[in-house]
Amino acid sequence: MRILGIESSCDETGLAIYDTEKKSLLGHVLYSQVGMHAEYGGVVPELASRDHVRKLLPLLRQLFEDCNISQSDIDGVAYTRGPGLIGALMVGSAFAKSLAFGLDIPTLGVHHMEGHLLAPLLEERQPKVPFLALLVSGGHTQIVHVKVIGEYHLLGTTIDDAAGEAFDKTAKMMGLDYPGGPLLAKLAEQGDVNRFKFTRPMVDRPGIDMSFSGLKTQVLTTFRRTEQTEQDKADVAAGFQKAIVDTLVIKCKRALEQTGVNQLVVAGGVGANKALRQTLTQMMTDRGGEFFAPNLAFCTDNGAMIAFAGALRMQAGQKDSDFSISPTARWPLEALPPIAVT
Ligand code: KG4
Ligand code: ZN
Repeated sequence: MRILGIESSCDETGLAIYDTEKKSLLGHVLYSQVGMHAEYGGVVPELASRDHVRKLLPLLRQLFEDCNISQSDIDGVAYTRGPGLIGALMVGSAFAKSLAFGLDIPTLGVHHMEGHLLAPLLEERQPKVPFLALLVSGGHTQIVHVKVIGEYHLLGTTIDDAAGEAFDKTAKMMGLDYPGGPLLAKLAEQGDVNRFKFTRPMVDRPGIDMSFSGLKTQVLTTFRRTEQTEQDKADVAAGFQKAIVDTLVIKCKRALEQTGVNQLVVAGGVGANKALRQTLTQMMTDRGGEFFAPNLAFCTDNGAMIAFAGALRMQAGQKDSDFSISPTARWPLEALPPIAVT
């Protein structure tokens, strides 16, 4: 089966084709709207929807050309059904359904976070169940127990801001451009991690839940007390990043101990963070366990993860019941049906 995947939940339009016989991606294309939203300091949902409308068809044509196949070679269309910005999801869903209706092939609405979670399985070196997944994106921060692919048990989550959101908001406060996460991470590389010591939120009490909104305020107060030179900025960024990384690592350790699992996967935009990847690698090596991460290109939003997650489920016979368009802004990962064994 060749499954076309379409991602349009936020500010990236991503399309890809996954071939289940070859067990590989045939190609993927991505257009990022960040340049457009940068002017406003954040994603403007209405503009995001309109831009997905503009980009989907040209990107699809380019993808077919890159893969050297035509639309009749596609067996199904997987698209991000949620969670995400409702207008942006609606554009991707309507596009997917119309295309599939015209080609008389099935569709499947994919959970965006399952896409992220499964992205490490696109690599040659792969985790085997059971494993834990640290999902860290702009909208979610979750630690998930994966006993079987397709069934997800939430062990811990943020009670307020997501890790990516904390990166973006802190970066904005420090006057960095949007999206601030990667820029703040770059700045942190030049900083002294020992100059400012920020709180590791919620590590002094038991449990795996997290909180990142207070940290942001603490960082702002500290930043305002400095002269705000480039070095001050870099040192604050380094201290902030270390606090986030340490907190995530402490919570992952607890989850590993609680479950007795010894394989860990990181996924989602913040999974591209070098310091986080290095620290998690070290932590898993020290425990005699294994660490897995997606290719950097597949950490942030992309079509490949949707094509792959959709392909796994469609291969197991799952599909949408009809061509009605039903995106959903909120959708708990635990509500997903299991993937039947074929
Ligand atoms: O997964 P993603 O592309 O979109 C969502 O599903 O939200 O994640 C985007 C988030 C943003 O908050 C962005 O600032 C953050 O991931 N991000 C990073 C890095 N690259 C992306 N945060 C820290 N360090 C990075 N290198
Ligand atoms: Zn995402």
